[in-house]
Amino acid sequence: MNKVSEYNQYLNYKNNKLFLENISLLHVATKFYTPLYCYSISQMEDNYRILKNSFKKIKPLICYALKANFNKEIIKTFSALGLGVDVVSSGELKKSLSNGFDKNKIVFSGVGKTTQEIEIAIKKKIKQINVESIEELEEINFLCKKLRRKINICLRVNPNIDAGTHEKISTGRSEDKFGIPDENIQGIFEKYKENKLINIIGLSIHIGSQIETLEPFKRAFKRIKGIILNLRAIGFKVSCLDLGGGVGIKYNEKNKIINIKSYAKLIEEIFSNLGLEIILEPGRYLVGSSGIIVSRVIRVKEGIDKNFTIIDAGMDNLIRPALYGAIHKIIPVKISKIKKDKPSDIVGPICETSDIFINKLKNHSFKKDDLVAILSTGAYSSCMASRYNLREKANEIFIKKEKINISNK
Ligand code: LLP
Repeated sequence: MNKVSEYNQYLNYKNNKLFLENISLLHVATKFYTPLYCYSISQMEDNYRILKNSFKKIKPLICYALKANFNKEIIKTFSALGLGVDVVSSGELKKSLSNGFDKNKIVFSGVGKTTQEIEIAIKKKIKQINVESIEELEEINFLCKKLRRKINICLRVNPNIDAGTHEKISTGRSEDKFGIPDENIQGIFEKYKENKLINIIGLSIHIGSQIETLEPFKRAFKRIKGIILNLRAIGFKVSCLDLGGGVGIKYNEKNKIINIKSYAKLIEEIFSNLGLEIILEPGRYLVGSSGIIVSRVIRVKEGIDKNFTIIDAGMDNLIRPALYGAIHKIIPVKISKIKKDKPSDIVGPICETSDIFINKLKNHSFKKDDLVAILSTGAYSSCMASRYNLREKANEIFIKKEKINISNK
Protein backbone atom coordinates (compact mmCIF):
# COMPACT_ATOMS: atom_id res chain seq x y z
CA MET A 1 0.00 0.00 0.00
CA ASN A 2 2.96 2.31 0.58
CA LYS A 3 3.74 2.22 -3.09
CA VAL A 4 0.76 4.36 -4.07
CA SER A 5 3.17 7.12 -5.04
CA GLU A 6 4.18 4.93 -8.01
CA TYR A 7 0.79 5.82 -9.43
CA ASN A 8 0.79 9.46 -8.44
CA GLN A 9 3.64 11.26 -6.68
CA TYR A 10 1.20 13.36 -4.70
CA LEU A 11 -0.79 10.44 -3.35
CA ASN A 12 0.30 9.09 0.03
CA TYR A 13 -0.83 7.75 3.34
CA LYS A 14 -0.29 9.77 6.49
CA ASN A 15 -1.30 7.90 9.65
CA ASN A 16 -3.13 5.38 7.48
CA LYS A 17 -5.22 8.06 5.83
CA LEU A 18 -4.93 8.80 2.14
CA PHE A 19 -3.95 12.29 1.03
CA LEU A 20 -3.79 13.86 -2.43
CA GLU A 21 -1.26 16.69 -2.22
CA ASN A 22 -1.99 18.21 1.23
CA ILE A 23 -5.65 17.31 1.26
CA SER A 24 -7.11 14.42 3.22
CA LEU A 25 -9.48 12.46 1.05
CA LEU A 26 -11.53 11.55 4.12
CA HIS A 27 -12.07 15.26 4.60
CA VAL A 28 -12.93 15.78 0.93
CA ALA A 29 -15.61 13.09 1.12
CA THR A 30 -17.35 14.96 3.93
CA LYS A 31 -17.45 18.16 1.87
CA PHE A 32 -18.46 16.75 -1.52
CA TYR A 33 -20.71 13.96 -2.67
CA THR A 34 -19.18 10.74 -3.86
CA PRO A 35 -18.30 9.50 -6.39
CA LEU A 36 -15.89 12.38 -6.86
CA TYR A 37 -13.16 12.92 -9.42
CA CYS A 38 -10.09 14.39 -7.66
CA TYR A 39 -7.05 15.65 -9.53
CA SER A 40 -3.59 16.76 -8.47
CA ILE A 41 -2.61 19.82 -10.48
CA SER A 42 1.03 19.42 -9.37
CA GLN A 43 1.14 15.92 -10.87
CA MET A 44 -0.11 17.21 -14.23
CA GLU A 45 2.47 19.98 -14.21
CA ASP A 46 5.22 17.52 -13.28
CA ASN A 47 4.21 15.13 -16.06
CA TYR A 48 4.57 17.92 -18.57
CA ARG A 49 7.94 19.07 -17.23
CA ILE A 50 9.34 15.54 -17.12
CA LEU A 51 8.37 14.96 -20.74
CA LYS A 52 9.67 18.33 -21.88
CA ASN A 53 12.97 18.01 -20.00
CA SER A 54 13.58 14.51 -21.35
CA PHE A 55 14.48 16.08 -24.69
CA LYS A 56 18.08 17.24 -24.94
CA LYS A 57 18.63 17.91 -28.65
CA ILE A 58 15.25 19.03 -29.94
CA LYS A 59 12.36 21.05 -28.55
CA PRO A 60 9.15 19.39 -29.64
CA LEU A 61 5.88 21.29 -29.57
CA ILE A 62 3.86 19.41 -26.99
CA CYS A 63 0.18 19.55 -27.95
CA TYR A 64 -2.05 18.18 -25.21
CA ALA A 65 -4.62 15.73 -26.65
CA LEU A 66 -7.66 17.42 -25.18
CA LYS A 67 -9.87 14.38 -25.65
CA ALA A 68 -8.17 12.79 -22.62
CA ASN A 69 -9.82 15.32 -20.30
CA PHE A 70 -11.44 18.56 -21.44
CA ASN A 71 -12.13 20.10 -18.05
CA LYS A 72 -11.56 23.86 -18.15
CA GLU A 73 -9.20 23.72 -15.18
CA ILE A 74 -6.88 21.41 -17.13
CA ILE A 75 -7.04 23.55 -20.25
CA LYS A 76 -6.12 26.59 -18.18
CA THR A 77 -3.25 24.77 -16.48
CA PHE A 78 -1.68 23.61 -19.74
CA SER A 79 -2.29 26.76 -21.75
CA ALA A 80 -0.62 28.76 -18.96
CA LEU A 81 2.43 26.49 -19.25
CA GLY A 82 2.66 27.28 -22.98
CA LEU A 83 1.60 23.92 -24.39
CA GLY A 84 -0.19 23.54 -27.68
CA VAL A 85 -3.31 21.44 -28.08
CA ASP A 86 -4.58 18.62 -30.29
CA VAL A 87 -8.33 18.93 -30.85
CA VAL A 88 -10.78 16.63 -32.62
CA SER A 89 -13.99 18.64 -32.78
CA SER A 90 -15.19 22.22 -33.04
CA GLY A 91 -16.27 21.93 -29.39
CA GLU A 92 -12.69 21.19 -28.35
CA LEU A 93 -11.37 23.86 -30.71
CA LYS A 94 -13.62 26.60 -29.33
CA LYS A 95 -13.01 25.62 -25.71
CA SER A 96 -9.25 25.65 -26.29
CA LEU A 97 -9.36 29.11 -27.81
CA SER A 98 -11.57 30.57 -25.10
CA ASN A 99 -9.35 29.21 -22.33
CA GLY A 100 -6.00 30.50 -23.40
CA PHE A 101 -4.47 28.21 -26.01
CA ASP A 102 -2.61 30.07 -28.76
CA LYS A 103 -4.21 29.45 -32.19
CA ASN A 104 -0.72 29.00 -33.63
CA LYS A 105 -0.33 25.92 -31.43
CA ILE A 106 -3.60 24.20 -32.33
CA VAL A 107 -3.57 20.99 -34.36
CA PHE A 108 -6.92 19.65 -35.60
CA SER A 109 -6.97 15.84 -35.90
CA GLY A 110 -9.77 13.35 -36.39
CA VAL A 111 -11.09 10.99 -39.02
CA GLY A 112 -14.51 12.61 -39.43
CA LYS A 113 -14.22 16.40 -39.36
CA THR A 114 -17.46 17.88 -40.68
CA THR A 115 -17.69 20.63 -43.29
CA GLN A 116 -18.65 23.11 -40.56
CA GLU A 117 -15.73 22.06 -38.37
CA ILE A 118 -13.24 22.43 -41.21
CA GLU A 119 -14.62 25.89 -41.98
CA ILE A 120 -14.19 26.97 -38.36
CA ALA A 121 -10.61 25.67 -38.29
CA ILE A 122 -9.77 27.55 -41.51
CA LYS A 123 -11.40 30.78 -40.32
CA LYS A 124 -9.69 30.63 -36.93
CA LYS A 125 -6.33 30.30 -38.70
CA ILE A 126 -5.09 27.44 -36.51
CA LYS A 127 -1.61 25.99 -36.87
CA GLN A 128 -2.57 22.98 -38.99
CA ILE A 129 -5.10 20.34 -39.89
CA ASN A 130 -3.96 16.72 -39.79
CA VAL A 131 -5.75 15.14 -42.71
CA GLU A 132 -6.90 11.53 -42.66
CA SER A 133 -7.96 10.92 -46.27
CA ILE A 134 -7.73 12.15 -49.84
CA GLU A 135 -11.46 12.86 -49.70
CA GLU A 136 -11.02 15.09 -46.64
CA LEU A 137 -8.21 17.00 -48.34
CA GLU A 138 -10.36 17.59 -51.41
CA GLU A 139 -13.05 19.07 -49.21
CA ILE A 140 -10.53 21.28 -47.39
CA ASN A 141 -9.28 22.49 -50.77
CA PHE A 142 -12.84 23.33 -51.85
CA LEU A 143 -13.49 25.23 -48.60
CA CYS A 144 -10.19 27.12 -48.78
CA LYS A 145 -11.13 28.31 -52.29
CA LYS A 146 -14.59 29.32 -51.08
CA LEU A 147 -13.21 31.21 -48.07
CA ARG A 148 -10.10 32.47 -49.91
CA ARG A 149 -7.89 31.27 -47.11
CA LYS A 150 -4.76 29.12 -46.84
CA ILE A 151 -4.14 26.26 -44.43
CA ASN A 152 -1.19 24.13 -43.34
CA ILE A 153 -1.69 20.39 -43.66
CA CYS A 154 0.02 17.30 -42.27
CA LEU A 155 -0.99 14.01 -43.86
CA ARG A 156 -1.70 11.31 -41.30
CA VAL A 157 0.03 8.15 -42.41
CA ASN A 158 -1.35 4.76 -41.58
CA PRO A 159 1.93 2.83 -41.24
CA ASN A 160 0.20 -0.56 -40.88
CA ILE A 161 1.83 -1.25 -37.54
CA ASP A 162 0.27 -3.09 -34.64
CA ALA A 163 0.86 -1.08 -31.46
CA GLY A 164 0.32 -4.22 -29.38
CA THR A 165 -2.27 -2.44 -27.30
CA HIS A 166 -5.95 -3.21 -26.71
CA GLU A 167 -7.82 -4.02 -29.93
CA LYS A 168 -10.20 -1.09 -29.40
CA ILE A 169 -7.51 1.57 -29.01
CA SER A 170 -5.18 0.42 -31.76
CA THR A 171 -5.17 2.84 -34.70
CA GLY A 172 -2.16 2.15 -36.90
CA ARG A 173 -3.08 -1.06 -38.72
CA SER A 174 -4.38 -0.96 -42.28
CA GLU A 175 -7.72 -2.41 -41.16
CA ASP A 176 -8.19 0.55 -38.77
CA LYS A 177 -10.16 3.54 -40.06
CA PHE A 178 -7.36 6.03 -39.41
CA GLY A 179 -4.83 7.67 -41.71
CA ILE A 180 -3.73 7.34 -45.32
CA PRO A 181 -1.87 4.22 -46.55
CA ASP A 182 1.81 5.12 -47.03
CA GLU A 183 1.74 4.15 -50.72
CA ASN A 184 -0.74 7.01 -51.39
CA ILE A 185 1.28 9.75 -49.67
CA GLN A 186 3.63 10.65 -52.52
CA GLY A 187 0.74 10.94 -54.98
CA ILE A 188 -0.99 13.46 -52.73
CA PHE A 189 2.19 15.56 -52.41
CA GLU A 190 2.44 15.54 -56.22
CA LYS A 191 -1.21 16.46 -56.73
CA TYR A 192 -1.05 19.45 -54.40
CA LYS A 193 2.44 20.64 -55.35
CA GLU A 194 1.27 23.76 -57.18
CA ASN A 195 -1.73 24.44 -54.95
CA LYS A 196 -1.49 27.92 -53.41
CA LEU A 197 -4.04 27.37 -50.64
CA ILE A 198 -3.16 23.89 -49.44
CA ASN A 199 0.29 23.92 -47.90
CA ILE A 200 1.35 20.35 -47.11
CA ILE A 201 4.06 20.88 -44.52
CA GLY A 202 4.57 17.32 -43.37
CA LEU A 203 3.25 14.08 -41.95
CA SER A 204 1.61 12.79 -38.79
CA ILE A 205 1.08 9.41 -37.16
CA HIS A 206 -0.67 8.03 -34.11
CA ILE A 207 -0.54 4.26 -33.86
CA GLY A 208 -2.58 3.70 -30.72
CA SER A 209 -3.01 4.44 -27.06
CA GLN A 210 -1.77 2.98 -23.75
CA ILE A 211 1.30 1.60 -25.50
CA GLU A 212 3.52 -0.17 -22.98
CA THR A 213 6.78 -0.80 -24.85
CA LEU A 214 8.99 1.25 -27.15
CA GLU A 215 9.07 -1.39 -29.87
CA PRO A 216 5.94 -0.33 -31.84
CA PHE A 217 6.98 3.32 -31.62
CA LYS A 218 10.40 2.42 -32.96
CA ARG A 219 8.96 0.55 -35.93
CA ALA A 220 6.47 3.31 -36.76
CA PHE A 221 9.05 6.09 -36.38
CA LYS A 222 11.51 4.30 -38.65
CA ARG A 223 8.82 3.72 -41.24
CA ILE A 224 7.83 7.39 -41.26
CA LYS A 225 11.44 8.51 -41.43
CA GLY A 226 11.82 6.40 -44.58
CA ILE A 227 8.79 8.10 -46.11
CA ILE A 228 10.18 11.56 -45.28
CA LEU A 229 13.57 10.74 -46.79
CA ASN A 230 11.92 9.45 -49.98
CA LEU A 231 9.77 12.55 -50.29
CA ARG A 232 12.77 14.80 -49.79
CA ALA A 233 14.84 12.82 -52.26
CA ILE A 234 12.33 13.60 -55.01
CA GLY A 235 12.25 17.28 -54.11
CA PHE A 236 9.37 17.74 -51.69
CA LYS A 237 9.80 19.95 -48.66
CA VAL A 238 8.84 18.16 -45.46
CA SER A 239 9.27 20.45 -42.46
CA CYS A 240 6.86 19.16 -39.83
CA LEU A 241 6.31 15.78 -38.22
CA ASP A 242 3.57 15.08 -35.71
CA LEU A 243 4.30 11.87 -33.79
CA GLY A 244 0.92 11.62 -32.03
CA GLY A 245 0.43 10.35 -28.50
CA GLY A 246 0.08 6.87 -27.09
CA VAL A 247 2.49 6.57 -24.16
CA GLY A 248 0.91 4.34 -21.53
CA ILE A 249 0.68 4.84 -17.77
CA LYS A 250 0.52 2.65 -14.67
CA TYR A 251 -2.96 1.32 -13.93
CA ASN A 252 -2.17 -1.72 -11.82
CA GLU A 253 0.69 -3.87 -10.56
CA LYS A 254 0.90 -5.89 -13.75
CA ASN A 255 0.97 -3.41 -16.59
CA LYS A 256 4.30 -2.26 -17.98
CA ILE A 257 5.23 1.34 -18.56
CA ILE A 258 7.67 3.07 -20.88
CA ASN A 259 10.57 5.04 -19.48
CA ILE A 260 9.84 8.51 -20.78
CA LYS A 261 13.52 9.39 -21.14
CA SER A 262 14.04 6.44 -23.48
CA TYR A 263 10.99 7.51 -25.47
CA ALA A 264 12.52 10.98 -25.91
CA LYS A 265 15.90 9.47 -26.71
CA LEU A 266 14.37 7.24 -29.38
CA ILE A 267 12.73 10.25 -31.03
CA GLU A 268 15.99 12.18 -30.95
CA GLU A 269 18.02 9.25 -32.30
CA ILE A 270 15.70 8.85 -35.26
CA PHE A 271 14.77 12.44 -36.07
CA SER A 272 17.10 15.01 -34.53
CA ASN A 273 19.33 15.39 -37.60
CA LEU A 274 16.44 15.96 -40.02
CA GLY A 275 15.77 19.58 -39.06
CA LEU A 276 12.06 18.89 -38.57
CA GLU A 277 9.58 20.64 -36.33
CA ILE A 278 8.45 17.76 -34.10
CA ILE A 279 4.99 17.76 -32.55
CA LEU A 280 3.83 15.36 -29.83
CA GLU A 281 0.21 14.80 -28.85
CA PRO A 282 0.21 13.16 -25.43
CA GLY A 283 -3.11 12.90 -23.64
CA ARG A 284 -3.07 10.09 -21.11
CA TYR A 285 0.58 10.62 -20.17
CA LEU A 286 -0.06 14.21 -19.13
CA VAL A 287 -3.24 13.76 -17.09
CA GLY A 288 -3.90 10.06 -16.46
CA SER A 289 -1.87 9.63 -13.32
CA SER A 290 -3.07 12.90 -11.79
CA GLY A 291 -6.63 11.75 -11.16
CA ILE A 292 -8.45 9.38 -8.84
CA ILE A 293 -12.11 8.67 -8.15
CA VAL A 294 -13.13 8.68 -4.52
CA SER A 295 -16.08 6.37 -4.05
CA ARG A 296 -18.10 5.07 -1.10
CA VAL A 297 -19.02 1.47 -0.43
CA ILE A 298 -22.81 1.25 -0.63
CA ARG A 299 -22.91 -2.21 0.88
CA VAL A 300 -21.23 -5.60 0.75
CA LYS A 301 -23.48 -8.31 -0.60
CA GLU A 302 -22.70 -11.89 0.32
CA GLY A 303 -22.47 -14.33 -2.57
CA ILE A 304 -21.89 -18.07 -2.82
CA ASP A 305 -18.14 -18.30 -3.32
CA LYS A 306 -17.37 -14.58 -3.37
CA ASN A 307 -18.85 -11.33 -2.13
CA PHE A 308 -19.82 -8.23 -4.04
CA THR A 309 -18.55 -4.93 -2.73
CA ILE A 310 -20.93 -2.45 -4.35
CA ILE A 311 -19.46 1.04 -4.61
CA ASP A 312 -21.16 4.25 -5.67
CA ALA A 313 -18.89 4.80 -8.70
CA GLY A 314 -20.00 2.95 -11.79
CA MET A 315 -19.35 2.51 -15.46
CA ASP A 316 -21.07 5.87 -15.97
CA ASN A 317 -18.08 7.48 -14.20
CA LEU A 318 -15.38 5.18 -15.55
CA ILE A 319 -16.19 3.09 -18.58
CA ARG A 320 -12.63 1.85 -19.27
CA PRO A 321 -13.00 -1.49 -17.42
CA ALA A 322 -16.26 -2.30 -19.24
CA LEU A 323 -15.01 -1.13 -22.63
CA TYR A 324 -11.39 -2.29 -22.69
CA GLY A 325 -11.17 -4.71 -19.77
CA ALA A 326 -8.93 -2.17 -18.04
CA ILE A 327 -7.99 -2.85 -14.44
CA HIS A 328 -7.57 0.27 -12.31
CA LYS A 329 -6.04 -0.33 -8.91
CA ILE A 330 -8.42 0.33 -6.03
CA ILE A 331 -7.15 1.23 -2.55
CA PRO A 332 -8.76 2.18 0.75
CA VAL A 333 -8.92 5.84 1.74
CA LYS A 334 -8.37 4.72 5.33
CA ILE A 335 -6.28 1.63 6.00
CA SER A 336 -7.80 -0.78 8.49
CA LYS A 337 -7.18 -4.38 9.45
CA ILE A 338 -7.70 -6.90 6.69
CA LYS A 339 -10.41 -9.38 7.58
CA LYS A 340 -10.36 -13.01 6.60
CA ASP A 341 -13.25 -13.25 4.21
CA LYS A 342 -14.20 -14.55 0.81
CA PRO A 343 -12.71 -12.65 -2.14
CA SER A 344 -14.94 -9.87 -3.37
CA ASP A 345 -15.78 -8.41 -6.74
CA ILE A 346 -15.67 -4.63 -6.64
CA VAL A 347 -18.67 -3.56 -8.67
CA GLY A 348 -20.63 -0.43 -9.49
CA PRO A 349 -24.37 0.06 -9.02
CA ILE A 350 -25.30 0.14 -12.73
CA CYS A 351 -27.65 -2.50 -14.09
CA GLU A 352 -25.06 -4.22 -16.28
CA THR A 353 -22.84 -7.18 -15.54
CA SER A 354 -19.98 -5.30 -17.23
CA ASP A 355 -20.14 -2.69 -14.45
CA ILE A 356 -17.30 -4.35 -12.57
CA PHE A 357 -13.95 -2.84 -11.61
CA ILE A 358 -12.11 -5.77 -10.06
CA ASN A 359 -12.75 -9.47 -10.17
CA LYS A 360 -12.38 -11.43 -6.90
CA LEU A 361 -10.18 -9.06 -4.90
CA LYS A 362 -8.47 -10.90 -2.07
CA ASN A 363 -7.19 -9.56 1.26
CA HIS A 364 -9.12 -6.38 1.69
CA SER A 365 -11.27 -4.89 4.40
CA PHE A 366 -14.03 -3.02 2.64
CA LYS A 367 -17.35 -2.64 4.43
CA LYS A 368 -20.39 -0.36 4.20
CA ASP A 369 -19.55 3.36 4.09
CA ASP A 370 -15.83 2.83 3.66
CA LEU A 371 -14.21 5.07 1.09
CA VAL A 372 -12.05 3.77 -1.72
CA ALA A 373 -9.89 5.46 -4.33
CA ILE A 374 -9.83 4.21 -7.92
CA LEU A 375 -6.42 5.15 -9.30
CA SER A 376 -5.18 6.57 -12.61
CA THR A 377 -8.49 8.06 -13.66
CA GLY A 378 -7.26 11.45 -14.87
CA ALA A 379 -7.60 10.49 -18.53
CA TYR A 380 -10.57 9.07 -20.43
CA SER A 381 -12.75 8.92 -17.32
CA SER A 382 -14.79 12.07 -16.69
CA CYS A 383 -14.69 12.91 -20.40
CA MET A 384 -16.25 9.55 -21.28
CA ALA A 385 -18.83 9.74 -18.49
CA SER A 386 -22.52 9.30 -19.21
CA ARG A 387 -25.80 9.79 -17.39
CA TYR A 388 -26.67 6.10 -17.79
CA ASN A 389 -29.37 4.98 -15.34
CA LEU A 390 -30.08 8.72 -14.99
CA ARG A 391 -27.38 9.15 -12.41
CA GLU A 392 -26.03 12.59 -11.54
CA LYS A 393 -22.77 13.64 -13.16
CA ALA A 394 -20.03 13.38 -10.53
CA ASN A 395 -18.21 16.52 -9.38
CA GLU A 396 -14.60 17.18 -10.29
CA ILE A 397 -12.20 18.82 -7.85
CA PHE A 398 -8.70 20.09 -8.52
CA ILE A 399 -6.13 20.10 -5.74
CA LYS A 400 -2.93 22.04 -5.52
CA LYS A 401 -1.09 21.91 -2.18
CA GLU A 402 -3.83 22.80 0.32
CA LYS A 403 -6.17 24.43 -2.16
CA ILE A 404 -9.29 22.79 -3.59
CA ASN A 405 -11.08 24.09 -6.62
CA ILE A 406 -14.34 22.58 -7.85
CA SER A 407 -14.80 22.77 -11.61
CA ASN A 408 -17.39 20.83 -13.56
CA LYS A 409 -17.00 22.57 -16.90
N1 LLP B 1 -3.46 11.89 -31.08
C1 LLP B 1 -4.47 11.26 -31.71
C2 LLP B 1 -4.62 11.47 -33.16
C3 LLP B 1 -5.33 10.41 -30.99
O1 LLP B 1 -6.29 9.77 -31.63
C4 LLP B 1 -5.13 10.23 -29.61
C5 LLP B 1 -6.00 9.36 -28.84
C6 LLP B 1 -4.08 10.93 -28.98
C7 LLP B 1 -3.26 11.74 -29.74
C8 LLP B 1 -3.79 10.82 -27.52
O2 LLP B 1 -3.44 9.52 -27.17
P1 LLP B 1 -2.87 9.19 -25.71
O3 LLP B 1 -1.55 9.91 -25.57
O4 LLP B 1 -3.86 9.68 -24.72
O5 LLP B 1 -2.74 7.72 -25.70
N2 LLP B 1 -10.54 6.02 -24.54
C9 LLP B 1 -9.34 5.22 -24.67
C10 LLP B 1 -8.24 5.96 -25.37
C11 LLP B 1 -8.63 6.47 -26.75
C12 LLP B 1 -7.52 7.27 -27.38
C13 LLP B 1 -8.01 7.96 -28.61
N3 LLP B 1 -7.02 8.73 -29.32
C14 LLP B 1 -8.90 4.74 -23.29
O6 LLP B 1 -9.58 5.03 -22.31
O7 LLP B 1 -7.92 4.01 -23.16
